[in-house]
Amino acid sequence: MEVPGDKSISHRSIMFGAIANGTTRVWNFLKGEDCLSTLDCFQKLGVTIIEHDQYLQIEGKGFNGLIEPTEILNVGNSGTTSRLILGILAGTPFHSVLIGDDSIAKRPMSRVTGPLRIMGANIDGRNDGEYTPISIRGGQLSPIHYQLPVASAQVKSSLLFAAMQAEGVTEIIEKSETRDHTERMFQYFGGELEKDGLTLRLNGPSTLNGRDIVVPGDISSAAFFIAAALIAPNSELLIKNVGLNQTRTGMLDVLKDMGAYIEVIPHSIDSFEPYGDLIVKSSNLNAVEIAGDVIPRLIDEIPILALVASQAEGTTVIKDAEELKVKETNRIDTVARELNKLGCNIVPTEDGLIIEGNTKIRGGIVDSHGDHRIGMMLAIASLLSEESIHIQGTDAISVSYPNFFEQLQSLVQN
Ligand code: S3P
Repeated sequence: MEVPGDKSISHRSIMFGAIANGTTRVWNFLKGEDCLSTLDCFQKLGVTIIEHDQYLQIEGKGFNGLIEPTEILNVGNSGTTSRLILGILAGTPFHSVLIGDDSIAKRPMSRVTGPLRIMGANIDGRNDGEYTPISIRGGQLSPIHYQLPVASAQVKSSLLFAAMQAEGVTEIIEKSETRDHTERMFQYFGGELEKDGLTLRLNGPSTLNGRDIVVPGDISSAAFFIAAALIAPNSELLIKNVGLNQTRTGMLDVLKDMGAYIEVIPHSIDSFEPYGDLIVKSSNLNAVEIAGDVIPRLIDEIPILALVASQAEGTTVIKDAEELKVKETNRIDTVARELNKLGCNIVPTEDGLIIEGNTKIRGGIVDSHGDHRIGMMLAIASLLSEESIHIQGTDAISVSYPNFFEQLQSLVQN
């Protein structure tokens, strides 16, 4: 099987295409609702984006080619769109307003609006710029020396987009290594960046040129099928052309520590992002502790890892994952609450979960709470139950995986 294109890389392909000079073409763009929100926002900012059968064509005119939108920019459910676009709009000399859905309205924005204000952007928003709706008027930006208070690729990326428009050297120091798609794509488009341990230095302003991009499959989407193959008896699964960027593969490392059979077949690195094939087989798993620097490398996979851990031998402890509280839902709460309805024994903690293994999953009525990754995790849980499981709010899954149920159905039939 192949999973749809990577969500993080798809967002960035539109953004870089828009701020570069010339044409960018993107193959395997994820047409999930989140990335379509990014596409819509950049069209409202005056960027021509043409959808061909096989690829997207973006006509970039540089940062200066963006124009003041006559409409409100709606980011929908997408945290990535909202945080990253603010970094771009921080330096554009016009006014924009951002809104999103009910979940976005609860997600913290001062982690980006704070440093972007220091750099010179004029930002206002509900609760002094903490929540949407947010209005922003770009300013003359100055470089910043900034230690990130949270391990967040969204915040890092937002500041990098602002740094590309500031005159001089911006220095960003990460708390822990997070996904580096922005850095890679920036360099692929001709930008210069220095990386020294957890410190990034960007000497702005930057001029970028459009490129061709092939988006690899999303490892965070593959995660649901990897988990299914491991915990459903007598399974064997080949997943082709999936992204293997090491800032995203923490789940593979943890699963291997748990005893999982996962074979990684890397392809020749002819792309700006590494990718390859995975072979996964049903395995007997043991509990582990998941904590520290691996957390940002698997942050989106924790809901499905919690389900996997419920099937392992022993008690799995997940720590240092307080960022889960500010995802599409408070995932510490939603994972524990929904899986416990199905017979699991999961205790939510301040910064993670304690998951009892060897659980028999039973039937019940559960809810995604509008969170795509909770919805998909519950669908995989249903494979283990002899009774039926009713999942409310499955429409949320289209945010990142529009054909999830069709693929699940065809795998189960085979
Ligand atoms: C993302 C970064 C992560 C991740 C999100 C996508 C990105 O968020 O959870 O799904 O594309 O940069 P944080 O950086 O806020 O942890």
